[in-house]
This record gives sequence, structure tokens and C-alpha cells, in this order.
Amino acid sequence: MSTYRHLVRPFLFRQDPEQIHESTLKWAHRAGRSRVARFMIRRAYRVRSNPRLAVHIAGLDFPHPLGLAAGFDKNGRVVEAMAAIGFGHVEVGSVSAEASEGNPRPRLFRLPADEAIVVNYGVPNDGAHAVADRLAQTPIDVPLGVNIVETNTGRPTVEEDVVDEFVRAARPLCGVADYLTLNLNCPNTTAGVSPFDDMERLTHLLHEYSQLENLPPVWLKFTAHRDASRAESLMSCVAPFPFVAGFIFNLPPGKDYPLRTATSVVAPMPGTLCGAPTRSMMDETLRFWYGRLDRSRFKLVGSGGIADPEDAYRKIRLGASMLQLYTGLVYEGPGLVGRIIDGLDQLLRRDGFVHISEAVGVDVPA
Ligand SMILES: Cc1cc2nc3c(=O)[nH]c(=O)nc-3n(C[C@H](O)[C@H](O)[C@H](O)COP(=O)(O)O)c2cc1C
Repeated sequence: MSTYRHLVRPFLFRQDPEQIHESTLKWAHRAGRSRVARFMIRRAYRVRSNPRLAVHIAGLDFPHPLGLAAGFDKNGRVVEAMAAIGFGHVEVGSVSAEASEGNPRPRLFRLPADEAIVVNYGVPNDGAHAVADRLAQTPIDVPLGVNIVETNTGRPTVEEDVVDEFVRAARPLCGVADYLTLNLNCPNTTAGVSPFDDMERLTHLLHEYSQLENLPPVWLKFTAHRDASRAESLMSCVAPFPFVAGFIFNLPPGKDYPLRTATSVVAPMPGTLCGAPTRSMMDETLRFWYGRLDRSRFKLVGSGGIADPEDAYRKIRLGASMLQLYTGLVYEGPGLVGRIIDGLDQLLRRDGFVHISEAVGVDVPA
């Protein structure tokens, strides 16, 4: 019996989702700052290092492929605690050049019958400078990513300013983050439409990034799609920029999935649905992209509804070199990380893989 699912979760789910998230961050921040607490958390969750799962990508060493997705720790307050529960990398953000309050509340909703969350946060954050200062004081022993987005001013994005916004947000983080993720189509700020769908603007952005001092490897995060001509244009636009390590897929805005929760409950919730119902759509997105990309050049990060080792393994076999989750943590608790890592090891052994890299994309013929 999972103590989290049966005892902790029912208690947490009686309270407002955003308030619980805030309290969790406060506790995790305190625990993460204490050496003793970190030691005890590591002992409790016991995510062991395992050479079969170690991943080396873009010059970075990840103890295993599973990381914390952006959105949980928007301001870099709990990176130490997240590393202690066993994540193999931690992605902070989204962070923007200027601080932002995000969208009006309520902006976070649970759909327990579907193991899903609807989010309309609108990227509230303390701003890149404040987050960079905080992160500089809290080094962790796994790669640290920071996810960058344009500032949510509550007004439509001014397309001419957006490149400058992304550059200003990145500057204080270069030298602090081990990698950056550029959140090119944040569903909560631009309704999934991106100024960077224009390849000239994306080229301009990447050119400006190439001039940044201490620029770490960069992942591009954009709305999941399976449009061959858009995929081709994106890959040729990105090809001349060697610092682009690969792609992560954002969930499309909306809640267009078959759900158990009544439509009358879901319809009034503004935002983007995350978690279990997105699983198969995100799996198919991986299959599509892995089938088309230059595999020696770009690495995919798989996400969307990872809640057990089989979900993680399927995404690896569909082409993900790395994995991220968020909603699974809310529904399964922090023990999920270790369960996935142990389970992944068993599944790889069962199928005769000596190292995880051998399993990447085996279900997608070249
Ligand atoms: C509450 C919440 C907030 C999120 N905020 C961000 C964000 O600020 N930036 C971002 O790139 N992704 C954000 N995401 C998306 C996650 O990073 C991830 O891509 C997505 O949730 C799919 O994984 P999951 O099904 O395991 O949750 C958020 C997701 C949730 C649930």
C-alpha cells in the first residue's frame, strides 16, 4: 500500500491546490537547506546510482534520465530537496526577464478521476536576476536547468520585443544553469501561438544566444505537433546552432482529451491539461519526431503523463533520451522517482539492454 496515495494525498487534496503547492514548497525549502534533513530524505527515498541508467548528453552527466519538469519550482526555492528525493536533473522556471504575478486566481485545478491537473498559472515568477542569485547559492549534485519564457504582462506579446526579452532573461543565468530550456510556446502566456513559429525570428533569437558569454546547452520547448513541414523547417533553422541540444514538447493549450471527469466540471476551468490523459498523444509526438530528426545531433526529452516505470520505458523506446515529470509527483508522491528508476532498470534488464542508450528509439525504425 502506498502511504502517499492512501494517507497523504487524501489529506492534501482536501485543500486548495495552489495553497498546498505553496506550503509544500515552504517545507521542501526548509528541508532542502538542512544537511541533516537532506541526508534523511536521501536515505528514505534511496535512489541508487546505476551505470546502466547514467546519461551523458551535451557535455552533461545525468545519473539517470528522469528529471523534474518546469513549473514545480518556478523560483529555484527547492532544488536541493528535489535533488535529494532522487531526480536526475531539476528544471527551474519558467523564469522571465522581469518578475510577474501571473494570471488571476484560481489558476490551478485537479481532476483526480483522470489523474490530471489543469494549469493556467501564466508563469508567475521572481524574475531571472532574483532566481539566478538564489540558484548561485544553492549548488546541487545533478544538472540544473532553467526554463526561460517571455514576461507575462497580461497584455499580448509584442513580437518585436520578444527576442530581447529572452536574451535579457538568459544573461544572468549563463554561468549558473547547466542548461537552459527556451519555452517558445508557453500555453499560458500566448495561448500556444508563438512569435517563434516565424523561423526568421527564431533564427534571430538563436543568433543572439550564440553571442552570450558562458551559454550552456539549450533545449527548445514548443507545443507538441506532428506537422512534417513545420518540423522540417524547425530542424533546418536550428541546425547551424551547435548549442541547441534537442527538443522538449509543451502540452497544447486546452483539455481536448477523453476524460472521466464530467464536462460540466472541466469546461469552466481555464488552461492546459497535464498528466495521464496526455500520455498517448505525447508518446505519438515522440515517435513522430524521433522518426525525423538527426539522431546524432538532437536529443528528445519525453514528458506527459509519466506515472510508472512502464510509462518511462515506453517513452525511451519511442526516442526520448531524457524524461521529465510533474503531475505524477502530485498524484504518486516523491517515492515515484525511485520506483521509476528501479523499474526502468528491471525493464532494461528484462529486454537485454546493457545500457539505457541502447533502448532509445528501438520502437521507431530509422
Ligand atoms: C502546475 C503546472 C505548472 C507548469 N508550469 C510550467 C512552466 O512554468 N513552464 C513550462 O515550460 N512548463 C510548465 N508546465 C509543464 C510541465 O513542465 C510538463 O511539460 C507537463 O506538465 C507534462 O508533464 P506531466 O504530464 O508529467 O505533468 C507546468 C505543468 C504543471 C502541471
